[in-house]
Parts: sequence; C-alpha cells; structure tokens
Amino acid sequence: MLRAFGALLLAAALLGSAQAQGNAKRGEYLSQAGGCLGCHTEKKEGAVPYAGGRALHTPFGTFYGPNLTPHPDAGLGKWSEADFVRAMREGLRPDGAHYFPAFPYPSFTRVTDADLRDLWAYLRALPPNARPNQAHELRFPFGFRFVLAGWKWLYFSPGAFRDEPGRGAALNRGAYLVQALGHCGECHTPRNFLGGPRRDLQLAGTAKGPDGKSVPNLTPTHLRKWSDAELRDILQTGLMPDGDVIAETMAEVVRNSTEKLNPADLAAMIAYLRSLAPLPEPKD
Ligand code: HEC
Ligand code: HEC
Repeated sequence: MLRAFGALLLAAALLGSAQAQGNAKRGEYLSQAGGCLGCHTEKKEGAVPYAGGRALHTPFGTFYGPNLTPHPDAGLGKWSEADFVRAMREGLRPDGAHYFPAFPYPSFTRVTDADLRDLWAYLRALPPNARPNQAHELRFPFGFRFVLAGWKWLYFSPGAFRDEPGRGAALNRGAYLVQALGHCGECHTPRNFLGGPRRDLQLAGTAKGPDGKSVPNLTPTHLRKWSDAELRDILQTGLMPDGDVIAETMAEVVRNSTEKLNPADLAAMIAYLRSLAPLPEPKD
C-alpha cells in the first residue's frame, strides 16, 4: 500500500517536471525552424553540432557562433532557463552585457515562452562538448558592447509574437515562422548604414545583402513569378524551377531549416508571404 503510494508520488513528480521542463523533441524541431545549427557549428568535416566556431563575416567584422552545448565551462552548462530566455528575448548576456545582432535576437525575441522552454530543453539534452569559444574580430568601434545599447534603443523592440485576431490560424502560424524562428527578414529586409532594418521595406529584398550579394524580394511583387508548388520545391530542395541551384547563403537556410519543416508549416509560411503587401523591387 505504502509502496503504491510512493510510486504514485514518483509518477506525479515526473509528470510535473516534464511539464515544467519543456519538450526536447519539440525543441529539436524548433531549433531546425530557427536554423540554430548553421551559426553554432564550425564549417568543416566532422565538426561537433552546436559546439560553436562558425565564422560569420559581416561589414562590422567576423563573429564566431559560440558553443551552445551544456558543457560547464565551454558552453551553457552553468546557465539557467531564465538566462536563456533573457538572451533570446532581450539580447542580454547573463552578466547584463548586450549581444551583437549577428545573433538574430531581434527576430528571436518574437519566439513564444512555450517554444523558448522547449528549445532550452533540447539544448540541455545535447552532449556537452569542451570546444572553447573564440573572440569575435570586430572593427572599431564595434568591438565595444556598450555601443550596442544605442543600436538596440533605435532598432530593437523586444516581445513575443502575438496572433493577429481575424487573420486565421494558418496565416498567423506562417507569420510566426517567418518573423520569429525563421528570421527571414535578417537577410531579406534592407538595412540602413547603421545596420538597422528598414521597417518600411520589410522582406522587400536588397541589392546589398550578406557578402554584398543581392537578396530577392519575398513580397508578391517578385514571388508571384512562382506557383505555390514551385515555392515549396525551392524551400525543400534549394533548386530553382529554372534549373539553377540557389546561392549558398540561402542553400544553407534550406539545408538547416526550411527542408526540415513539416508540410503544414511550409504551406503556412508560403501563404503568409503571399498575403504581404507588394513592395517595390530593391533599387540600389
Ligand atoms: C545568423 C547566425 C545565428 C543563428 C541563426 C543563431 N545564432 Fe545564436 N548566436 C550567434 C552569434 C554570432 C552569437 C554571439 C553574439 C555575441 O557574442 O554578441 C550567438 C549567441 C547565442 C547565444 C548566447 C551564447 C553565449 O555563450 O553567450 C545563445 C543562447 C544562442 N545564440 C542561441 C541560439 C539559438 C537557440 C538559435 C536558434 C533558434 C540561434 N542561436 C541561432 C549567431 C546565430
Ligand atoms: C542568411 C541569409 C538568408 C536568410 C536567413 C534567408 N534567406 Fe532566403 N535568400 C537569401 C539569398 C542570398 C537568396 C538569393 C539566392 C540566389 O540568388 O540564388 C535567397 C533566396 C530566397 C528565395 C528564392 C527567391 C527567388 O525567386 O530567387 C526564397 C523563396 C527565399 N529566399 C525564402 C526565404 C525564407 C522563407 C526565409 C526564412 C525562412 C529565408 N529565405 C531566409 C538569403 C537568406
């Protein structure tokens, strides 16, 4: 009798902690939707996933994606869930310093609380890896994190995504995937000379994207040239309907992220892009 009661208590405790802790399996899918792997894994044969070291070249200098595994010294082993939520939602390090927006927290701030909890459960479940982080190599004055306070004041508005009433579940899901986890605007929205996104030209593309290459307009002005089936194929295979292979910057997004989306999520993403106001093609 006593033993049965004990088992019941144990079961209740396990159930309770499963709820409190977030779902690592769901978190894995969300990390794919967010493309976390690409920026947090060194670009070489046999690199350990999420152990950091990926070089990201930007006009401000070279960033190295840090180690996200739960190693106590090299990774996030000493972090609490609250530290993780603050990093993603507010772009702040546990010691209060600002992150550079090369970490796309201006988009990730839109991720919901429940999804952040699941992402954290997934990262916690990774094998700890001791790969040490590298210091970023940045141009003056970008090496100073306090400069970022001004940038964030101008361009960063924290807060989780909220469904727009009356828009329907699929369009809201698509908007969430594009704006929050998919961070499509980080490359497809043009920026001003301070690296701030142009709010009036969201997803309108730019002639000067990452690596100085052009990034296409994702509003209907340009995307109307593809059917839904063609767009789905592009995002699933990285092959263009005209037989071209998509440029590597986007091919990586396809490999790490959009090809892993389930059919309903992919369809929602496309439906949302279709629903955007058509914006003019980028000029410069
Ligand atoms: C476009 C590249 C990119 C993507 C995609 C990306 N990150 Fe990062 N992340 C970075 C960079 C660069 C930094 C370091 C920023 C700094 O030092 O200011 C960073 C830092 C972090 C940190 C802080 C780590 C530390 O040691 O302080 C966390 C946590 C994090 N990222 C989680 C994620 C998660 C979760 C995802 C996917 C949902 C993700 N990142 C996707 C580039 C990226
Ligand atoms: C890291 C930067 C980056 C991110 C993030 C990114 N893209 Fe792209 N995307 C590009 C570049 C660069 C191209 C142009 C590729 C080429 O010219 O072959 C492109 C091309 C495309 C195309 C092909 C359009 C055409 O007609 O040529 C589609 C569709 C697309 N992106 C959708 C998305 C969606 C949806 C997301 C978010 C899930 C996204 N992209 C996130 C950089 C990015």
